[in-house]
Amino acid sequence: MASFFIEGGTRLAGEVDISGAKNSALPIIAASLLTDKKVVLQNIPDVVDVRTMIQLVRHLGASIEFKGRKLSIQASCLNSVEAPYDIVCRMRASYYVLGALVAREKKAVVAMPGGCAIGPRPIDLHIKGLSSLGTKVDISGGYINADARGLVGRKVDLQGPKGTSVGATINVMLAATGASGRTEISPAAVEPEVVDVANFLRALGVEVSGQGSHTITVKACDRFEERIRYRIIPDRIETGTFAVAAAITRGKISMHECMSEHMTSVFEKLDQVGIGVSQTGQSVTISGSRQKRATDIFVAPYPGFPTDMQAQFMALLSIVPGTSTIKESIFENRFMQAVELMRMGADITIEGDTAVIKGVKKLSGTHLMASDLRASSALILAGLAARGRTVVRRIYHLDRGYENFETKLRKLGARIRRVRE
Ligand code: UD1
Repeated sequence: MASFFIEGGTRLAGEVDISGAKNSALPIIAASLLTDKKVVLQNIPDVVDVRTMIQLVRHLGASIEFKGRKLSIQASCLNSVEAPYDIVCRMRASYYVLGALVAREKKAVVAMPGGCAIGPRPIDLHIKGLSSLGTKVDISGGYINADARGLVGRKVDLQGPKGTSVGATINVMLAATGASGRTEISPAAVEPEVVDVANFLRALGVEVSGQGSHTITVKACDRFEERIRYRIIPDRIETGTFAVAAAITRGKISMHECMSEHMTSVFEKLDQVGIGVSQTGQSVTISGSRQKRATDIFVAPYPGFPTDMQAQFMALLSIVPGTSTIKESIFENRFMQAVELMRMGADITIEGDTAVIKGVKKLSGTHLMASDLRASSALILAGLAARGRTVVRRIYHLDRGYENFETKLRKLGARIRRVRE
């Protein structure tokens, strides 16, 4: 198993190119199974989750070539409709093949993804959505068996106890391409990755409208475009993570190839904390040298403050003078980085869904254990700002979602190395 060894205390400075969005790439690779035509996807990040999705669609029968962030995929015909447990258990987003298989093959057998470190993560809305389109869904032996011979476009209500769902909105959009007539999804998630999937479907030739609003309409598609090329949007969470890297080390980082229109809530929060944010075109410069002040963060669906940025901000706020709070309303168990930050000297108390963070002068390096993807990046950021050496273990979580993270950080002056133990 590998760990990161980090010597803290360097102000990061320089430039970094932001990679393509993992959370767009995964459903768009799955959506490429909808057509038998060749699809070329650009700006695909080379991260472990993308490699897992490639393995899954290959298993289903697609031929794939992945070179230099360009992924060519052709699913002329599929030879399986089963997403096996040994792949699905590695990555929840494997469930995106469910919508694509239902649309194309009218049948799917997908292992149940189960919970994960950040909470129980149910899939009831995915199943409710597909059932609304006339799919018979039966769960047995740990597998979702979907029989979609009666697939028909309808109104789909995706209201859940925590609002709508990104994953369910996308799965229903994919299934709807193979349903007769017109499907109306409401409330639909409005995250940029949902819009990216909708734009990809449009590039395929599917009639989709309303993406980015709470009602998305998809019409059945029986003729797909030839020679599809599509470029994935930049990763807004990677952008936010490098922004916090500049803030927490009191450095200055210019990020290129990013979309600042997706970053409004994160940049507003940085501004409130006293971090300089200046934008020109597709570049943003973050300066962390000014005096910082505490803030309150309320995590919410887009365009609110993203749950995937909460851990990184907790690391930052742990060394900002004053008392800050973070209220996490989306996932139940997403403060796992807090106990590790406390081992570095942070003063954090968890009260239900709220973390109360009293800024300390300095964190000190120690041995840490990463628990999930975003918690991993938070601990690395804390290590960059801490006094002395920090060792972060279980970094396979980080490799699932950040492309060349330590290489990019080293280019900015970070003293970080990967050590295989
Ligand atoms: C996606 C992102 C993840 C991000 C999350 C919220 C991917 C691969 N992952 O996850 O990084 O943190 O959006 O922005 O894109 N829920 C239900 N029933 C369901 C589905 C979800 O109750 O059937 C609940 C969840 O438990 C959670 C909330 O709805 O409380 C939002 O989850 P959802 O939007 O589905 O997140 P994901 O798509 O899994």
